[in-house]
Amino acid sequence: MTFLEPVEGELRLEGMPLAEIARRFGTPCYVYSRAAIEAAFRDFDEGLGALDHLVCYAVKASSNLAILDVLARLGAGFDIVSGGELARVLAAGGRADRVIFSGVGKTEAEMRLALEAGIKCFNVESEPELERLESVAAALGRRAPVALRINPDVDARTHPYISTGMAGNKFGIPHARARGAYQHAARLPHLEVVGIGCHIGSQILETAPLDEALERVLELATALAADGISLRHIDVGGGLGIRYRDEEAPDIRAYCARLAARLAGRREQVLLEPGRAIAGAAGLLLTRVEYLKLDKAKRFAVVDASMSELLRPALYESWHPIVPVGTGAARESARYDVVGPVCESSDVHGLDRELAVAPGDLLAILAAGAYGMAMSSNYNSRPRPCEVLVDRGAALEVRARETPESLFALERRLPTR
Ligand code: LLP
Repeated sequence: MTFLEPVEGELRLEGMPLAEIARRFGTPCYVYSRAAIEAAFRDFDEGLGALDHLVCYAVKASSNLAILDVLARLGAGFDIVSGGELARVLAAGGRADRVIFSGVGKTEAEMRLALEAGIKCFNVESEPELERLESVAAALGRRAPVALRINPDVDARTHPYISTGMAGNKFGIPHARARGAYQHAARLPHLEVVGIGCHIGSQILETAPLDEALERVLELATALAADGISLRHIDVGGGLGIRYRDEEAPDIRAYCARLAARLAGRREQVLLEPGRAIAGAAGLLLTRVEYLKLDKAKRFAVVDASMSELLRPALYESWHPIVPVGTGAARESARYDVVGPVCESSDVHGLDRELAVAPGDLLAILAAGAYGMAMSSNYNSRPRPCEVLVDRGAALEVRARETPESLFALERRLPTR
C-alpha cells in the first residue's frame, strides 16, 4: 500500500496517523485510503487508453457506499451479484446503465429489480437462466440485455476455492455449448444479445490463463458473427491478483496495455470486472493487542480482531502482512501466532510472525481492503467493526460500529402466554 508510510515512529495513511484513527473510532476498525482506491482504478482506466472500455468494479470485494461513491465519481461501472449489491450501487450514486449483473443463481425478484432499474447487461450463466430471464422480461414488457458468461475450461492456477473457469466449476456456460445457447437466446423475443464474457478466478498471478481465456472468447465472437450474431461488448472478467507476501503480482498498466493492443481495432466495447486489484491494497484492519499469552509450546499475541472481521486466513489459509502501528517504542522482538478471541483454532491472522509488541499496542493487518469487511460476520455475537475512509488527510467514519443490540434487533422472544 503506497499511501502507508512510517513517519516519526508511527504508521500514517495518506498522512493520517493510524493511532489517531484508533483513538477516535476504536478498534477493530477497517481503514481505507481514497487515494489508493482512485490510483488503482486509474491504473485500469488509463491503462486501457483510447480503447472503448468500461471498468466495472466487482462490488463484492468491498461494498461500503463511500467506496462505491468514490468509484462512481470516477465514472466506474459496477459488477454486481445480487439485488443487495444493486441497491448499494444505486444508493451510492452509481449509474444503472453501467451495471452488469453476474452470478449463477439470480432470482426472479432480482431480475425484475435489475430490469426495472435499467441495467447495462445480465451476465447469464446457464440455459435455464435464459428461460427465466425471458419470462421475467416478457411479464414486464421489456427486453433484457444479455451476455453469456462462457466457461472456457482454463485453469487460472489459483486457490481451488476461487478458481471458476474450469469444466468442473459451477460457473458459466461450457465453451462447447455456447454457440447453441447464443442461437437460442437470439430467438427469444424479450432478450437482446449484447455481449460475451468470462471470469476464470481470483488472485490470479500469471496472465497466461487470462490470455488463453480471452482467445477462446474471441474465437467464439468470430463464430457468432458468422452465425449473424454481432456483439456490442466483450467482458474479460476480473481476477488480477495483488501482492500479499512476496508474490509477483501482474502490473495492471502493463496488463491493460497488452489488452488494448490485442483488442485494438475491434468494434466491441471492452469490459473488465476487477475487485481485489482496486480495493485490496487500499484497506487495512486496525487491531489492538489484548494479551501476550506465553505458553510452553507457543507464544500468542491475542488481538481484538478475529475471523469474524477478517475471514480470509481461516478460510483460505491466506497470508496478510501484520505490522506494528507504533514503530518507535523499545520492545523485545519474538515470534508470535497472532490470533483473535473467537472460539475456533482457525481464528488466526498469522502464524509465527516476528513482532516487537506489548499489550495495548496497535497492529495493522494489511492488504485487507478486498474481501475483508465484505466477508465479515457476527460470529460469537461480535458487532461488525466501523469503517473509516481517509480522504486527503481527513478521516471519515463511513460505517459506524455495530452495537450488540443491533445484532438481535430483528429477533423476537417467545410470545407471552
Ligand atoms: N467477476 C466475477 C463474476 C466474480 O465472481 C469475481 C469474484 C470478480 C469479478 C472479481 O474478482 P477479483 O478481481 O476480485 O479477483 N473471497 C475470495 C475471492 C472470491 C472472488 C469471487 N469472485 C478471497 O478473499 O480471496
